[in-house]
Amino acid sequence: MAAEKSWVRLVTAQTPTNIAVIKYWGKRDETLILPINDSLSVTLDPNHLCTTTTVAVSPAFHQDRMWLNGKEISLAVDRFQNCLREIRKRANDVEEEEKGIKIAKKDWESLHVHIASYNNFPTAAGLASSAAGLACLVFSLAKLMNLKEDQAQLSAIARQGSGSACRSLHGGFVKWIMGNNDDGSDSFAVQVADEKHWDDLVILIAVVSSRQKETSSTSGMRESVETSLLLKHRAQEIVPKRMVQMEEAIKNKDFPSFARLACADSNQFHATCLDTTPPIFYMNDTSHKIISIVEKWNRAETTPQVAYTFDAGPNAVLIARDRKTASLLLQRMLFYFPPGADADLNSYVLGDKSILQDAGIKDMEDVKSLQSPPEIKDANSNQKYAGDVSYFICTRPGQGPIVLSDESQALLNPETGLPK
Ligand code: DP6
Repeated sequence: MAAEKSWVRLVTAQTPTNIAVIKYWGKRDETLILPINDSLSVTLDPNHLCTTTTVAVSPAFHQDRMWLNGKEISLAVDRFQNCLREIRKRANDVEEEEKGIKIAKKDWESLHVHIASYNNFPTAAGLASSAAGLACLVFSLAKLMNLKEDQAQLSAIARQGSGSACRSLHGGFVKWIMGNNDDGSDSFAVQVADEKHWDDLVILIAVVSSRQKETSSTSGMRESVETSLLLKHRAQEIVPKRMVQMEEAIKNKDFPSFARLACADSNQFHATCLDTTPPIFYMNDTSHKIISIVEKWNRAETTPQVAYTFDAGPNAVLIARDRKTASLLLQRMLFYFPPGADADLNSYVLGDKSILQDAGIKDMEDVKSLQSPPEIKDANSNQKYAGDVSYFICTRPGQGPIVLSDESQALLNPETGLPK
């Protein structure tokens, strides 16, 4: 038999992660991943936190394969399979004349794909890597297979990979509408406002050191649905009202309302975790310390300066109203949580380093000479906690998924379809 002339078609895409300010916690359908309430998130700038994924198809591939951060992982996981199946179902004809590629709609069922994914932040840091990862998988495969669906329809596919992933299909401020249908057809994410709408906001993430292995979101929320009466009350009574107020706050760039709602919602989510049997603890002492620093500061001002929110882990996501406030926030954080003895500032504050300059901090000497914040009158509450934060990331609201057309950014070799 003559060898078939082989080719490889590649698509590379980049997808952001997101942080919910009205939390998703609890499913009404575990397989389709349908939530018990709406949620709302801010997409984070992919320059600082994102997943890049290259997907490839070739008649020479014998099975679907995937590599994450360079290591091969199994695709025999329901959530991956559900996304792959839903995308293949919607695939269309593809033709790339110059490469001699011609794929008919019906061929997709028998063709195999290779997928390589890379996070530009440590997967172990607990920074919602699954949201960016699953969103990127769906977005890049949709481009590879020439799907005609819009972002909202793609978000409904990503939802079946991981709930929070559906919100990473858009930039800016994003609402996941829970929907009512049993088949999930009305449960998808839509953009509330794009990233340019409110570009004063600055986001500082404190990656908190933790030795504890956390309960996964998936099993944590299952236990909360089964045992927490507070979660039921939250989903039915609290979140519907908060969603309306949060959308309003975002549309009007009303920071005080935004901050009050975000902090209250994060605290209530963690209260539902505590109300779960057995109770789940995601925040630790460092998280609590950060909350109290921000609360004291906000109370000392006439109006809130910073919002905080915590997902299923101890990391703090702090949202400052503007750049000036962000530099004051960074000063406070570095005052309380200076880098450990052997750390250097450059690897302690990552992302947008211009906030460090705004804060007038060039080196460790500047960190050491930071003064106690004015809202603290009692010298005893000025204890420092070196080593409790692993590092900080400065970022901002960012754009949604994009295709990277420069082949040098591909993670798979265009000749072999194997990792570079
Ligand atoms: C606390 O999306 O990780 O971050 O749908 O089971 O994959 P699965 O869960 P996941 O849960 C995220 C929960 C959260 C809140 C949020 O992002 O809204």
